[in-house]
Amino acid sequence: MQALNFQAAAGASHSFGCGRRQLSHVRLHSHNSTQRQQAELRSAKPCPCRPQRLAPQATSTMEALTSSKITHKSTVTKPTVIITGASSGLGLSAARALAQSGDWHVVMACRDFSKAESAARSSGMPKGSYTVMHCDLASMTSVRQFVDNFRASGLPLDAVVCNAATYLPTAKEPTFTADGFELSTAANHLGHFLLSNLLLEDLKDKKKSKVTGASPRIIIVGSITGNTNTVAGNVPPKANLGDMRGLATTLNGMESAMIDGGKFDGAKAYKDSKVCNMLTVREFHRRYHDSTGVTFASLYPGCIADTGLFRNHVKLFRTLFPPFQKYITKGYVSQEDAGRRLAQVVTDPKLDQSGVYWSWNNQSESFENEVSEEVSDGVKGQKLWDLSEKLVGLAH
Ligand SMILES: NC(=O)c1ccc[n+]([C@@H]2O[C@H](COP(=O)([O-])OP(=O)(O)OC[C@H]3O[C@@H](n4cnc5c(N)ncnc54)[C@H](OP(=O)(O)O)[C@@H]3O)[C@@H](O)[C@H]2O)c1
Repeated sequence: MQALNFQAAAGASHSFGCGRRQLSHVRLHSHNSTQRQQAELRSAKPCPCRPQRLAPQATSTMEALTSSKITHKSTVTKPTVIITGASSGLGLSAARALAQSGDWHVVMACRDFSKAESAARSSGMPKGSYTVMHCDLASMTSVRQFVDNFRASGLPLDAVVCNAATYLPTAKEPTFTADGFELSTAANHLGHFLLSNLLLEDLKDKKKSKVTGASPRIIIVGSITGNTNTVAGNVPPKANLGDMRGLATTLNGMESAMIDGGKFDGAKAYKDSKVCNMLTVREFHRRYHDSTGVTFASLYPGCIADTGLFRNHVKLFRTLFPPFQKYITKGYVSQEDAGRRLAQVVTDPKLDQSGVYWSWNNQSESFENEVSEEVSDGVKGQKLWDLSEKLVGLAH
């Protein structure tokens, strides 16, 4: 493998990306101008240059640390976990918990280098305990590029956490990515589907960690809102993938706002994507647990009512939702506690069971929770898998 140029200092964190990566505004298609403006997301153009070098943003945030360049691969030997969307909320809290344990090296797979780097620092993640790498889950090219960069870094791999998500409850019109997928479906489901399928290769046949005693794991964060066997899951609009005719339409190169082929509803699109996340975990387990030894799991960490997930909601909702969850439903969990829960699913040898949807009781003890009829529908899981494989270009 080719040597990498990367900037490192004694005890400094590392940031990987394509050195010639040009931040550009990649226009995502949408149906009105406001949406179009919102949809101009910062994304990475695929860059022909190899090997990868430090990205410009990383340089600016790290230049105070060192300017020395080392041209060899990472020497990290600790168990390493990739966490998507580790720049805020649950992902950041879990990243911090794992990094601060001293047992783990964390790869923060994020779409915004500077935000991730400064979030890691201000949350107190020890220097040298993390690496920031670019990954925009809404772009399948970016996901593939991330996997290439990760492999080129020479870092070991012990666990993958698919955590990033976008929630667009007030959007009136769908936003479509450059690949032609509705944004929540792309970022929350398809990007993670591709990422975890590609990285399964790096995890399979890996032994339990000598340091933590945990099996290799792929975790995809689920949600109560995608499970209609709960009170929260019955708040309209309810999750329902239907016969997935919308997703199938996308295969023919036509844009479809919803997986079920219905009219666009941003809140439902998010909930549907969470159903996809939980179905994917169960299908991963069925297909690959026995042959690879990898543990596949999902979880509902509790209602973390004050994260950035609700950033696109109306102000009144953002004000009232946290106290409502704290004092009325009592479903509220702090970002710190939720992060510890996710970290536990990554590292606790007692949570080795595969195909499980973890939840926590009032005493913060983990238990295997039941999923809805739709999430436990194996036929639906297989159909989703087959469609997703084709959509992300994995099907042979
Ligand atoms: N909050 C809750 O009550 C709750 C409950 C159950 C489950 N969850 C789940 O918990 C997970 C984390 O959510 P959160 O509450 O912590 O929200 P959050 O603070 O908004 O975190 C979401 C993360 O995803 C990243 N992200 C969004 N779109 C991305 C993309 N296209 N590519 C790469 N990264 C992207 C965000 O990056 P930027 O920082 O760049 O925006 C951010 O780091 C989600 O899977 C969510 O469904 C949350």
